[in-house]
Amino acid sequence: MKLLITGGAGFMGSNFIKHIFKNHPNWQVVNLDKLTYAGNLDNLKEVGDSPNYFFVRGDIANKEDVKAAIGQGVDKIINFAAETHVDRSILEPDAFIKTDIFGTYTLLEAARENNVAQYIQISTDEVFGSIKNGSFSESSPFAPNSPYSASKAGADHLCRAYFKTYNLPVIVTHSCNFYGPSQYPEKLIPLFITNLLENKKVPVYGEGNQMREWIFTEDYCRAIDLIIERGQVGEIYNIGTGYEKQNIEITKFILAELGFDESMIEYVKDRPAHDFRYSINCEKLRGLGWKSEIPWDEGLRRTIKWYQENEWWWKKLKSGEYLDYYKKQYQSR
Ligand code: NAD
Ligand code: DAU
Repeated sequence: MKLLITGGAGFMGSNFIKHIFKNHPNWQVVNLDKLTYAGNLDNLKEVGDSPNYFFVRGDIANKEDVKAAIGQGVDKIINFAAETHVDRSILEPDAFIKTDIFGTYTLLEAARENNVAQYIQISTDEVFGSIKNGSFSESSPFAPNSPYSASKAGADHLCRAYFKTYNLPVIVTHSCNFYGPSQYPEKLIPLFITNLLENKKVPVYGEGNQMREWIFTEDYCRAIDLIIERGQVGEIYNIGTGYEKQNIEITKFILAELGFDESMIEYVKDRPAHDFRYSINCEKLRGLGWKSEIPWDEGLRRTIKWYQENEWWWKKLKSGEYLDYYKKQYQSR
């Protein structure tokens, strides 16, 4: 089997490539990645020399780049590539529209031209918007509230249209929030851990009462692996765990683990259009034989430990462009 994995130098894409080489040593992987600020080849050091691994630096929104990657003959495409950070989408939506919508369109067209056997779209629970009670199902209506989630929703609609119109073998997956080692330190969990490791305060938006559902890297990679093998084309699969946590609860857990008290919390102005709660029903995926195996606390402790032991990885990321982004983000609120 030869997979084209896009965005394979990012957080979950790189974890997934490592998962593939561990669990399917005979499979081949072509990784097409633009190497934006979020792409990091340090994430792939351990697979870089494998004869089954091919790296193409390129843009999923560029037809020629996609051709160069797919032209090597691939069976299946898994589209992880995206602009992913909600706060950045509020500041500068442009790249989100280009990559998340036009990039997905470019890949779908290439998949069609090359008769790929399966195209898996990696999407998010954020397309459904916020939910007060209960959980989103695969057929819940889309109600995206940020430029990021609107771009992902647009891409998901294109996937559906390519299945309906051209019979392209598409599967769409909607997942809850990822966490684990090597997540770029702009997202809640790695930002708070690394700030505290640098003796800096942690910026909680609003009162910190918002809720997210969380999945650890290993559980997520097993879910996508299963969908590659057993997912039905034209179907949608939600990926969730039931581990729903308030931001403030996560913050206090990290503070306690690292030996700090609540004086390290800085309550800052809220994110515009901040979704209050996400929750996803993943019975359909369970029906394929998947369940989450990593308990929430264990995943978070493992994540904290990884950042403690891998300062070399994150320290250099928290400078330059990163600091410009933070300055802009706080000025704009
Ligand atoms: P990330 O931000 O860590 O990495 C994104 C990767 O995509 C980077 O390697 C980047 O270089 C690459 N990329 C960006 N634009 C590109 C382009 N135009 N062409 C080629 N490569 C490009 O991503 P992540 O947080 O691991 O998310 C991966 C996927 O999962 C995304 O599609 C995201 O929407 C989805 N998702 C993320 C979460 C989460 O909690 N992070 C939850 C659900 C779904
Ligand atoms: O739900 C899936 C989505 O999860 C993915 O599709 C996105 O790509 C991913 O970025 C993530 O979006 P969130 O907005 O939920 O993640 P983030 O880590 O940015 O924020 C998590 C929560 O923490 C959210 O309620 C905002 C809050 N927060 C975040 C940051 C960065 C803070 O209070 N302070 C912060 O500094």
